[in-house]
Order: sequence, then structure tokens, then C-alpha cells
Amino acid sequence: MHKFVSFFGERSPMFEELNQKTEVYAKTRGIEYVWVPQVPYDVESVVQCLNEADAGLIDVEPYDDRIFNRLNDRCKLLVRFGVGFDKVDLKAASAHGLCVARTTGANKTGVAEMALTMLLAAGRQVMVNRNTVNSGKWVKNVGRELIGKKVGILGFGNIGIALAKLLTGFDCEVVAYDICKNEVAAKALNVRFTDMEEIFTTCDAISVHLPYNAQTDHLINAEVFAKMKKDAVLVCTARGKIIDEDALYDALKNHRIAGAGLDVYATEPLPADSPLTKLANIILTPHVSSQTYESIWNTYKKAVDIAADFFEGRALDPADLLNPDYKERLKEGK
Ligand SMILES: NC(=O)c1ccc[n+]([C@@H]2O[C@H](COP(=O)([O-])OP(=O)(O)OC[C@H]3O[C@@H](n4cnc5c(N)ncnc54)[C@H](O)[C@@H]3O)[C@@H](O)[C@H]2O)c1
Repeated sequence: MHKFVSFFGERSPMFEELNQKTEVYAKTRGIEYVWVPQVPYDVESVVQCLNEADAGLIDVEPYDDRIFNRLNDRCKLLVRFGVGFDKVDLKAASAHGLCVARTTGANKTGVAEMALTMLLAAGRQVMVNRNTVNSGKWVKNVGRELIGKKVGILGFGNIGIALAKLLTGFDCEVVAYDICKNEVAAKALNVRFTDMEEIFTTCDAISVHLPYNAQTDHLINAEVFAKMKKDAVLVCTARGKIIDEDALYDALKNHRIAGAGLDVYATEPLPADSPLTKLANIILTPHVSSQTYESIWNTYKKAVDIAADFFEGRALDPADLLNPDYKERLKEGK
């Protein structure tokens, strides 16, 4: 039986239950699943565990030569618990003959629901109203409805599409921007592809579902905020560095836009003294968009399926397999 060591989750009754469930499911797929939660993350423990396993289920911490150089030849596969892989050095992994995969789509519902929650809450000034009540005042801050508005989705992949599906009940005009156009999904959900300019200048609500990379670094910056509608809201559940946080702070502070929702930050954990925490018109959550019981279970289960398929010699879904060139290194005898 191949051993799959998992670092995701923390010691709590819910994660204990989910990991017992995963262990049972893994056995049915011929995998020995061992859970070694890393809270706090301990690089020594991670290296030791990976050297005693055939595969690892990893979280958002950096995985590069600092870890790969210390691995023996046993571990052949790393599975990212989730989708974003910006902290994994794929080139270095390939050089070590290590396959890296991700659990695409498994958490799309959790993230899409959070994006919708934030779009609604930002529009209705929920945080502003809550702070008003907390301070003993009874002031009614008037919000905006989402029904019938123009919504822009940046990144029409698994999560962007899941959000468009949720929005079908809201009679919105939904436009999307993506370098790879899924015309079938767009047609089915009545979504029109457009450019970023139309989204930034005309949408009432914008939700970001792009990966973080060189092209998306600070994609949303002061220039963008300057052209957005004054009543617009912006939500980002993708990656922090896609947004210039200083520019967002200025835009919210000066009421250049109406509100925002962030689940991800340039630096995580978000420093307690971040100026963003001083604003009333922003909803801040600690990278929890995919943290629903259902999405976490789907992700553990999919990770086990990927590991089982990999060791059974089945081809992985190209959307999940991140470094197909790892095989070249294997051919060289690593
Ligand atoms: N907050 C969370 O808990 C959480 C959970 C899951 C995913 N995420 C983030 O959300 C992102 C989206 O997840 P997903 O499952 O929808 O991924 P996905 O791969 O299914 O979709 C991403 C889409 O972005 C498009 N894209 C890539 N680069 C682009 C560019 N430069 N310009 C325009 N479009 C581009 C791709 O073509 C694809 O359609 C992930 O990359 C991840 O960083 C966050």
C-alpha cells in the first residue's frame, strides 16, 4: 500500500472526523492515509514525514528546493489541498522528479458561496451597519441590491463559473474576462465574455477568481480604482497580491468605491495593524472561502483519488496535473 501523508487541517473535532473519513475512504482506494496536521507549520516535521511517505498532501506554505533538496527518493507526488499553486516551485519539483497536482474544482462551491456572500454583504453595508449597532448608535446606512445589476467575473474557471451559476437567480447581467474562454459554460449561464476595461468601468460588482502569477500581480491598482463606478463593490477570494492593497485602502477610505470583501492578502496572516482593519466598508475574512465542511471533504476525497490514480498508473486530469514535465526527469533515472 502506498503511504499518503496529509498536512492539511488542525486538531479539532471536525477535522478529526473528516480525516477519519478520509482514512477509511483511502483504504478503499488502496492508499494508507496518515494525517500529521501542521499547525503551526513545522518544516522539519514536513521533511521527515515526506521522507517516510510516497506522497504528501500539502497546504499553502512554500514548497521549493529548501524542502526538495532534503527529500530522499521515496516521495513521488505532492498534492496541493486546493487550487492555487503560486507557492510551489514547479520547475524545482520537476527537476527532482516530483509530480505536483492540485484538487481543481473540489472547493468551487465553498469559494463561490463566499464570493456571493461578500458581494451581497458589501452592497448592503453589513459591516458598516454592524459597527454602528456595536457603537450604540441607531443609524441606518442605505445599501444597494444585487438584483438586476451588472456583475463582472475576472477568471471564468471552476469558481467563476460556480459564481455565475449562483447568480442566475439574481437577474444580473453577468460579464466575464478570461484568457481561455469556456463558451459552453458561458452560453449555458447567459454570461458574455468581455475585456477588463468594460468590467472595471461599467460593473456594479466585481469578483476576482484569477490565479496569482506575473500577469495578475497588482492587476487591480490605483488606475483601476480610478475608473470604477463610485457605487461599485469589489470582492477577491483568489490571491492577495492580485490587488494593490494600498490602492484599495485609499479607494475605500476616500469612498472612491462603495465597499469591498477580501479573503486573501499579500501577507498572510494579515498583520493585525494593517490599515485595512481600520476601515468600516470592507469585509475581511482569514482565507476561509473554501473552508466549508462540504468543500473540505470533497478536497480530501479528491486528493486521495489523485494519489490512487497516480500510483495505479492512470493519467491525471490535465487541469490537476501541474508539472507534466516531471516525467522527463524520471526518465533520466531520478
Ligand atoms: N480563498 C480560497 O480559499 C481559495 C480557494 C480556492 C481557490 N482560490 C483561488 O482562486 C483561483 C481560481 O480558482 P479556480 O478553481 O476557479 O481555478 P481555475 O484554474 O479553474 O480557473 C482560473 C481561471 O483563470 C484563467 N486565467 C488564468 N490566468 C489568467 C490571466 N492572466 N488573465 C485572465 N484569465 C486567466 C484561467 O484560464 C481559468 O479559467 C485560484 O487560482 C486560487 O488562487 C482561493
